[in-house]
Amino acid sequence: MSTDTNKQIEYYANALKAPRIRDSAARLAEQARDAGWTHEEYLAAVLSREVSSRESSGAETRIRAAGFPARKAIEEFNFDHQPALKRDTLAHLGTAQFISKAQNVVLLGPPGTGKTHLSIGLGIAAAHHGHRVLFATAVEWVTRLQTAHQHGRLAAELAKLRRYGLLIVDEVGYIPFEQDAANLFFQLVSSRYEHASLVLTSNLPFSRWGDVFSDHVVAAAMIDRIVHHADVLTLKGNSYRLRNTEIDTLPSMRGDNQAD
Ligand SMILES: Nc1ncnc2c1ncn2[C@@H]1O[C@H](COP(=O)(O)OP(=O)(O)O)[C@@H](O)[C@H]1O
Ligand SMILES: [Mg+2]
Repeated sequence: MSTDTNKQIEYYANALKAPRIRDSAARLAEQARDAGWTHEEYLAAVLSREVSSRESSGAETRIRAAGFPARKAIEEFNFDHQPALKRDTLAHLGTAQFISKAQNVVLLGPPGTGKTHLSIGLGIAAAHHGHRVLFATAVEWVTRLQTAHQHGRLAAELAKLRRYGLLIVDEVGYIPFEQDAANLFFQLVSSRYEHASLVLTSNLPFSRWGDVFSDHVVAAAMIDRIVHHADVLTLKGNSYRLRNTEIDTLPSMRGDNQAD
């Protein structure tokens, strides 16, 4: 290729904000000449470099914007520690099809059984499939909605959040909500119902959610909407955090306080 042509490619690639085309055009041209590619094959190879790196940098941007407390992948999850949980189920959820269908996932189980880990893993998989994701604890979501409500823009906030394909609500049930907070949380759940997905985690079974939301009617209406289109996965056993210690029970794992 002449230097003039190279300069033109560089100019056009910059104008298109496609730096990978600029970087790969000359290198791929050499490869194309050596391997006798057609013009079309060469063009496809150059464009594919740009597209695949845009897709992965888009995913990276979405992952950074999601506010995950840590990076955890479904692939890093040790299924031997959760024999009741099917690898296939998680692999299927990892395709993010549930988000295209505005379905939900609920992860229930005692502390340390991997609820947060899997919720993050699902969020990262969603980001790789092009979905916008936000992660926060139930308490943080309610605080966010309270702030919006106080400024008279609750509806606008809920509409904005509906543009995220997936919201992750971690730790439902660790801290009980007052009536007002419970109502705001209910509005979040209703606003997403059949429009966009939620992944929720809780240490409590649904039967105990009435206590968390200080209102059994609101809790029942909420659970109804959440589970209408949902996969409910129950994690069991001892905390993974304590697996190499002598400790085999935590206070919260006693009796009816357990989500099993
Ligand atoms: N089955 C598992 N395989 C690999 N790591 C796990 C597993 N279960 C839990 N962990 C790890 O143990 C720690 C606690 O898990 P976490 O998801 O925070 O539990 P939970 O949210 O249920 O309390 C995290 O570092 C997580 O990555
Ligand atoms: Mg957790």
